[in-house]
Amino acid sequence: MSDFISSTNKIEDFMCLVTGSEKLSGRMGWLTVSCRDLAEKIFPGACVMVFPSDSNDPLLGRPFAVADVDIEKGELSVCYMVLGRGTEMMMQLIAGKEVRLRGPFGVPLLPVDGKVNIAAGGVGIATFLYFAKKYPEKTAHIYLGVPGKGYEKFVDRILELVPEVHIFTDDGSFGEGNSMFKVLPKNMDENERVWSSGPPGFINALRKHYADEKDKLYFALDKRMACGYGGCMGCVVKTNNGPKRLCVDQLLFRADEVADDEN
Ligand SMILES: Cc1cc2nc3c(=O)[nH]c(=O)nc-3n(C[C@H](O)[C@H](O)[C@H](O)COP(=O)(O)OP(=O)(O)OC[C@H]3O[C@@H](n4cnc5c(N)ncnc54)[C@H](O)[C@@H]3O)c2cc1C
Ligand code: FES
Repeated sequence: MSDFISSTNKIEDFMCLVTGSEKLSGRMGWLTVSCRDLAEKIFPGACVMVFPSDSNDPLLGRPFAVADVDIEKGELSVCYMVLGRGTEMMMQLIAGKEVRLRGPFGVPLLPVDGKVNIAAGGVGIATFLYFAKKYPEKTAHIYLGVPGKGYEKFVDRILELVPEVHIFTDDGSFGEGNSMFKVLPKNMDENERVWSSGPPGFINALRKHYADEKDKLYFALDKRMACGYGGCMGCVVKTNNGPKRLCVDQLLFRADEVADDEN
């Protein structure tokens, strides 16, 4: 079975109430909003655009994976790293304020034959959290690498959602060691694979690690997005099968179907 299908979701704008806005480390934030109509539409792999201000500045929303959904409460959360103006504004959002979200967009992550291993660097884990929570029987192992000291709160939040995650820290200050590359599975069975997401350096290291098993390694790529519904072509990835839009065509790319500089 394929790891993805094309998305056919109708995306809309929703005014949501901020119910939680938390700094998890210097640069990591966790934003929870209440909006039952949107929460009910979320699927594993779903993303939303966050419009962090009341005005049209910035004009474009910022894309984020939905890290968690609480259907009973009608809430959804994104986990984000502060990079620039939009994410700095997100860090200023406080409970009780309204924020506009557009979504859901993206391509559903589906359970596949066999089990998946998940390897993530930092905030890249957000893409897979809801899948791992919804389909534990389809998830073999989850490996998360973070810088270390200062990231304890971020890691605790991830473990609250998915306690099985194996943690690795660059500085070795906590977790199971300083490199997941010592334990990532190799020589995988026919149906086993690795789904991954993280910064370019991490993806490049995975490419090298799985140079002999390129057909087993999949990664989520990061592109600038303007619309989220397939119209702007801002998120196009060049693949062996032609150009693919991240927002509507394909979420995960197999290492042997994209050029080495796509990361
Ligand atoms: C499908 C998708 C899902 C994503 N999910 C998450 C998530 O769950 N958590 C998370 O923290 N981030 C996620 N991102 C990345 C996130 O959208 C960007 O970090 C964010 O838009 C930056 O906004 P900004 O206004 O703070 O930065 P800007 O002021 O727009 O840019 C600041 C710096 O960040 C770089 N940058 C901006 N956007 C991106 C991008 N998309 N990829 C790489 N570099 C970028 C710029 O080149 C610039 O150097 C996702 C991106 C995509 C495409
Ligand atoms: S974000 Fe516009 S086409 Fe994908």
